[in-house]
Amino acid sequence: MIPLLSASSAHIPFLTYIPNSQVDLKTISISGTMYQISSERVKEMSFLELAKKRYSVRQYQTNQVEEEKLLKILEAARMAPSGHNNQPVKLIVVKEKTGLDKLKKGANIYGAPLAIITCCDSKAAWIRPYDSKNILDIDASIATDHMMLQATELGLGTVWVCNFDPKAIKQEFNLPANVEPINILAVGYAAGDATSPDRHDKTRKSLKDLVSYETY
Ligand SMILES: Cc1cc2nc3c(=O)[nH]c(=O)nc-3n(C[C@H](O)[C@H](O)[C@H](O)COP(=O)(O)O)c2cc1C
Repeated sequence: MIPLLSASSAHIPFLTYIPNSQVDLKTISISGTMYQISSERVKEMSFLELAKKRYSVRQYQTNQVEEEKLLKILEAARMAPSGHNNQPVKLIVVKEKTGLDKLKKGANIYGAPLAIITCCDSKAAWIRPYDSKNILDIDASIATDHMMLQATELGLGTVWVCNFDPKAIKQEFNLPANVEPINILAVGYAAGDATSPDRHDKTRKSLKDLVSYETY
């Protein structure tokens, strides 16, 4: 029997609660538990709402990320564009204890039950002919960002980690010489208080400081 989500428990991360409506129950998964809620009571979040809700999670519950959700996150990476469509990115999924222990030798993933190492093959990435700039970091970061936002939509927490020892990661995960670990995305169910989606007024530059038109 799937429990009915009550009005008081409807402050869920990826849905907006609309009071005073009934009928047409929809099944949703929150932290791995299935609930039913009136589909008229929820509306999908807009992209901007999703982007505002995401925050860096540095405290995780111990429960695992469901395989179905992991596959969606990986599929989001697969959909990411890359320079010249060269697709130089390789992902290493780490969720077994031995892998997580290896990861600890080079990175802090804050106790997340899952991490995805976004690697990039420097020989496969597109190189801009004007200045020979290798765009591997850009390709890897688009894939990581896709995964991060997909995870957010699925009600999962993430933190993007670049402060790691690349030498240790390369060695522990047997990366070939031309393949670099670029980003690590820690994923899991958030523990602790969520950061406010309204925080950006204070924690981000204003549009005025961020943008100029027509010239720098
Ligand atoms: C490229 C990149 C690298 C980051 N590296 C780390 C890291 O190594 N460790 C960490 O705790 N957070 C890391 N972060 C998270 C940032 O500190 C965080 O996104 C920023 O402070 C804004 O906070 P918010 O994500 O909660 O909005 C990184 C974020 C990005 C985009």
